[in-house]
Amino acid sequence: MTPRPGTPGSQIASRLGVTERIFVGPRMRKLLTTVEEGLDLVEERLAGELKVGDSLADVTSRYLYEAGGKRMRPMLAILTAQLGSGVTDDVLAGATALEMTHLGSLYHDDVMDEADRRRGVPSAHAVWGNNVAILTGDLLFSRASQLMAQVGERAIRLQADTFERLVLGQMHETVGAQPGDDPVEFYLQVLSDKTGSLIAAAAETGVVFSDASDDYAAPVREFGERIGVAFQLLDDVIDLSADPAETGKVPGTDLRAGVPTMPYLLLGRATDPASQALKVTIDEGVARISDGADPAILDQPLAQLRVHPATEATRQLAHEWSDRAVAALAPLPDGLVREALTRFAQVVVDRSS
Ligand code: IPE
Ligand code: IPE
Ligand code: MG
Ligand code: MG
Repeated sequence: MTPRPGTPGSQIASRLGVTERIFVGPRMRKLLTTVEEGLDLVEERLAGELKVGDSLADVTSRYLYEAGGKRMRPMLAILTAQLGSGVTDDVLAGATALEMTHLGSLYHDDVMDEADRRRGVPSAHAVWGNNVAILTGDLLFSRASQLMAQVGERAIRLQADTFERLVLGQMHETVGAQPGDDPVEFYLQVLSDKTGSLIAAAAETGVVFSDASDDYAAPVREFGERIGVAFQLLDDVIDLSADPAETGKVPGTDLRAGVPTMPYLLLGRATDPASQALKVTIDEGVARISDGADPAILDQPLAQLRVHPATEATRQLAHEWSDRAVAALAPLPDGLVREALTRFAQVVVDRSS
């Protein structure tokens, strides 16, 4: 569905798959209502913040926002804000700014990954070209900083520190592991930096800008960081098994573009001849695609990787990181918020799109 700015609540249907599974049963209904109301406020704020005087930038900035998205980061901020005094103006601004940062990173990411589709629509660079896509991402980062500046220095610092980690994560992914690096450990660090950092910041935002006890800040950060890694690992599984109608992405997009995802890295650790031969085939395919060959040449090898134990091992690893995220919540008080966060971590690794 395509949400329209100014009609908060229209996102709900696209989020339903997630929220229904996090907020289960009548006990959770009140918390669900609170979170939905908070998300509607974020939606309204996003629609306002994404208006630009320049007519082209106005269209390009709102393009991916209008295409959908789960609003996972604001949802997390709203949830952790319930440990304090709820969705204050500062929580709202922080959650909106972090979602805008996420949004901007998607414009850039699709350029770097040469991904043709995003959120079920052609990616921005496929519509307007790389330059406009990159500049639109930059514009969204500027707007996010402006919003954080309204909150104050702590928010600006959180935004800047988070953005630095995100950028360096993307940089390390681009440059790849260096001699002496363990490829799997290197990749996990990339995931923490490029994705965990922003989710951790969202979780922290809810605590620090709702005046919740500072004792909760570190645990929810850890939680966010770890579900970020879990999320990405599951994404690697989905990248291989994607049904384009469900995910809005072309299966194997990352691998075809030469991004070494976890199933591929674990395949690289296998010592049997069949696995090693499959790895060579994939490497050769990636090299030929970068020389202009049809990406479809990897259809068959990627189908083999999909059913290889390396892919199941990646799914297992995602579950381990989700469990570690839940373990980080131990210092939080027992109650509905902690329960919802626990389910959040489970939903992240129990999805097909
Ligand atoms: C996708 O994140 C990109 C990553 C940082 C892994 P999401 O899956 O949260 O994307 P949307 O916002 O729902 O489209
Ligand atoms: C998304 O990363 C961008 C950032 C984390 C900054 P990916 O390239 O792994 O995610 P998708 O698969 O395109 O959503
Ligand atoms: Mg990508
Ligand atoms: Mg990427």
